[in-house]
Amino acid sequence: MEKLLNNKIALVTGGASGIGRACAFALVEEGASVAVCDRNEEAGTRVVDEITSRDGDAMFCAMDVAAVDSVNAGIDAVIARYGRINCAFNNAGVAGDDRFIADTTDAEWEKIIGINLTGVWSCLRREIQEMLPRGGGTIVNTASVAGLVGWRGGAAYSATKHAVVGLTKSAALEYARHNIRVNAVCPGVIETPMAAVLQQDTGGLRERLLRKHPQGRFGQAEEIAEAVVWLFSDRSSFTNGHTLTIDGGYTAR
Ligand SMILES: NC(=O)c1ccc[n+]([C@@H]2O[C@H](COP(=O)([O-])OP(=O)(O)OC[C@H]3O[C@@H](n4cnc5c(N)ncnc54)[C@H](O)[C@@H]3O)[C@@H](O)[C@H]2O)c1
Repeated sequence: MEKLLNNKIALVTGGASGIGRACAFALVEEGASVAVCDRNEEAGTRVVDEITSRDGDAMFCAMDVAAVDSVNAGIDAVIARYGRINCAFNNAGVAGDDRFIADTTDAEWEKIIGINLTGVWSCLRREIQEMLPRGGGTIVNTASVAGLVGWRGGAAYSATKHAVVGLTKSAALEYARHNIRVNAVCPGVIETPMAAVLQQDTGGLRERLLRKHPQGRFGQAEEIAEAVVWLFSDRSSFTNGHTLTIDGGYTAR
């Protein structure tokens, strides 16, 4: 069967772990070459080594999405190696400290805004600049169910994810005529290293969150990767500015 992303060059931020890692493998499986961009060089290089050991094509790109110079240098390296970017998954992100607003420091707020919002902004802008002269491309941003509803104990996180939804819709409106589609995925709780804290939880948080997922379980990173592959492919050619919830029914209530 024809692969969905043959000859495509894909960039994945946060590609060293969790959702980004699963996505990197899924993209290669569909024929893409992948730039695994992350601030964790050791884990990112392991992902690339694993892909190349299976005859896939990938490169590691050291990138701190919170630093615009690092984003630009990283994307320069991807262009130097592959000459273009067809698909970009702006996915790197961090969770907060699980504190209410009155107990949240400015430093914590700035850290989350810097990575989850400014990081997506800097990547998105540069990717669009690269795609425009080359006839277009597709972009997917990782928001969250916390980008659609509030999150007790995660106001800063939720604010960044709501903002990512706004950036996604605005970018889709601005560049639809330039053959650039921009969509977002909104995962529910996914069992990745970010959610590992739930495995050790004894205070009832895990149970409370499970009850919010009508399917009675958390999601797997591969279930998000499936959606990202589809959003990158021509099979979703009329899907634009969309926020795709992949949450086991969390936001259906
Ligand atoms: N796991 C969940 O339950 C869940 C739910 C909804 C949304 N999300 C979102 O999905 C995305 C991926 O999360 P995950 O669960 O795979 O987490 P993860 O912790 O497994 O992976 C995140 C990756 O991002 C990288 N990263 C963090 N800060 C970075 C920076 N400044 N520059 C470059 N790379 C950086 C980390 O090194 C790591 O490899 C995040 O945006 C997160 O907010 C996760």
